[in-house]
Amino acid sequence: MTQHKLYLSPIEALTNQLEKQPKFNGAAGGPDIIPTELLLKAYKETHFKPGCHDYPGAGGSLEARQAISEYTMKILGFPKTSPDKIIVTAGAQHAIKLLSQLLLDKDEKAVVENPGFIEGRMPIEYQTSRIETIDISLKGEVEIPGLAEKPKLAYTVPTAHNPLGIDYPESARYKLRKLAGEGIIVLEDDPYRALHSNPPDPIWTPGSNIAYIGSLSKTVAPGVRIGFIIPPEGLVEPLKLLSQHDFATNTPIGCMMQYLLDTGDLQGHIALKRTIYVERLDYMKRKLEEEMPDHEMSLAKGGFFVTIRLGCDSFKLLLKALDLGISFVPIRDFYLHDPVVDAIRISIAKLRIHYIDEYVKTLAKIVGECRGTL
Ligand SMILES: Cc1ncc(COP(=O)(O)O)c(C=O)c1O
Repeated sequence: MTQHKLYLSPIEALTNQLEKQPKFNGAAGGPDIIPTELLLKAYKETHFKPGCHDYPGAGGSLEARQAISEYTMKILGFPKTSPDKIIVTAGAQHAIKLLSQLLLDKDEKAVVENPGFIEGRMPIEYQTSRIETIDISLKGEVEIPGLAEKPKLAYTVPTAHNPLGIDYPESARYKLRKLAGEGIIVLEDDPYRALHSNPPDPIWTPGSNIAYIGSLSKTVAPGVRIGFIIPPEGLVEPLKLLSQHDFATNTPIGCMMQYLLDTGDLQGHIALKRTIYVERLDYMKRKLEEEMPDHEMSLAKGGFFVTIRLGCDSFKLLLKALDLGISFVPIRDFYLHDPVVDAIRISIAKLRIHYIDEYVKTLAKIVGECRGTL
């Protein structure tokens, strides 16, 4: 059995623990608006095309790489990237796994966020135990460490962070670009960009030493498992070779995405999602401010999450909350050190706007009762 680090993500643990989903699900990270009709139409229109059910080939099928090239232009507003410079993956997590395997030999140094997206960190922790952190406060202050020994990679979510929802300030974005310029491969994991009302420019620029990681899990559906990497030039071929180990990507979905981008249906769907999720996040923040004005809250700017401090034991409170039909995720385990132990992540991914009043009122009530239990 391997000696590498393997553990259950607390988000998985929480999901497994629940016998039934609470009425007000503030824990889930997967969107509740899924374009099932469009997917059906796209499959009907593309299933007969040659190549749409074959092995993908190294780096993903041609159709999928073409679709992602279109996606980065039409949805993300990026300049054209040639399909042969794109690596299609089975989601962003698969992208991080491929990059970690490729870049990190055992006990080589890596940098991750504190707090940070646990499943993004896991493949890095699997490769190495030598980890330094980028520390981030709820206010969105980002401390890029001075690095005496150069790490091989730095894993970051600079826009619509998970779990804080913050965008890195320009000073931190500049420092990350500088690190990349010094030879450290920076991973920019950016799944929420298209659902953000006003995202800052990515830290990635074409030709930089930054591996841009995208995903259609939030903009389409997590179950379709399609994501991608636009890697630094020197990593394109090695990533293609590594992708032969699993050929993990799905060819029908590549064809379907190409079709939906050509018809404009995907653009319409994502625009609708953006309007709805932006409205929900704004409303959630407003309600939390109204009902829980004394509680420190993260300066969430985009994506699905906002973090708030409760002033009491978040795990004990969760049990009570579940009894009352509401859920959230305590974020203690998103930290590698110095955790903010009483903070929770609230997700609007599955919380319809007309549920938010009751969700927040219930939360405020039980938090009021549990104060002083920390
Ligand atoms: C920052 C971040 N990266 C990646 C993912 C997951 O991406 P995928 O489903 O494409 O693997 C999530 C989902 O919660 C996320 O928040």
